[in-house]
Amino acid sequence: MAEPTISADDFAFIARLVRQRCALVLEPGKEYLVKSRLFPLAQRHGLSGIGPLVDRLRASDNGLTTEVVEAMVTTETSFFRDIHPFETLKKTVLPQLIEARRAGRQLNFWFAASSSGQEPYSVALMLKEWFPELNDWRLNLWATDISHEMLHRSRAARYTQVEVNRGLPTTLLLKWFRQDGAHWQLDDRIRSMVTFSPLNLAQPWPAMPAWDLVFLRNVMIYFDNDVKKAILGRAGRVLNKDGYLLLGGAETTLSLDDSYRRIEALKSGFYQLKP
Ligand SMILES: C[S@@+](CC[C@H](N)C(=O)[O-])C[C@H]1O[C@@H](n2cnc3c(N)ncnc32)[C@H](O)[C@@H]1O
Repeated sequence: MAEPTISADDFAFIARLVRQRCALVLEPGKEYLVKSRLFPLAQRHGLSGIGPLVDRLRASDNGLTTEVVEAMVTTETSFFRDIHPFETLKKTVLPQLIEARRAGRQLNFWFAASSSGQEPYSVALMLKEWFPELNDWRLNLWATDISHEMLHRSRAARYTQVEVNRGLPTTLLLKWFRQDGAHWQLDDRIRSMVTFSPLNLAQPWPAMPAWDLVFLRNVMIYFDNDVKKAILGRAGRVLNKDGYLLLGGAETTLSLDDSYRRIEALKSGFYQLKP
């Protein structure tokens, strides 16, 4: 079969389109990525290659544009990803927040690019398993992503063997998942703890409550500095004064937004607003 190709013009068109729609930056040199993600999509639509796909996008096929954007975002995730932030959450951050919210008995957590759901479900499992005192609290766990396909997968909460092998302790797998053919189905008691909605971080955000914890992990790395600054600014306005922002291992607020301070003692990407 012939190698997929992409012209410079078509690459520039795709780069502009995904930047406008989801803020993802595709620098020259990423042609291989566009080819590997969009050639299979073109084929699924009965098109011979990326050229005809771009022709259809130029004729403004909205459904197809959404599919292209969803094909271009990276959705890599896993249960308890990077381990350390989750240990810190369990040992330090959650006990502190629970103490601070004891009077109102409510916690508000937002997972702001939740991919296929492993991140919010890791926290839901943690709350259920290790914090039984929260059983009669109001736990508001809201998870959002731009990708409708990822939201659909998240709501289904069905994972492959490979996915449950990545980061999920066996004890939690056996206790909270049921094997169903080649998949593992998450128990409804955990699944129902998380609400999933579409949200594009690069566009104005809807009204939302003040959050005690905002997970904003492994998504800003794909954006340019102006978009990162805008997102961090908005996150600061929806974060409680004593709440935490959690970034991914390769992300920082440094040189982007000086209203945050990294909580060095926690050593795992937790930030708070400066007093
Ligand atoms: C690499 S995954 C990170 C998932 C999870 N936070 C983690 O760290 O494991 C990045 C996610 O960001 C989502 N995403 C990309 N651009 C976005 C945008 N503009 N608004 C909201 N979500 C976006 C993608 O769909 C993808 O699911």
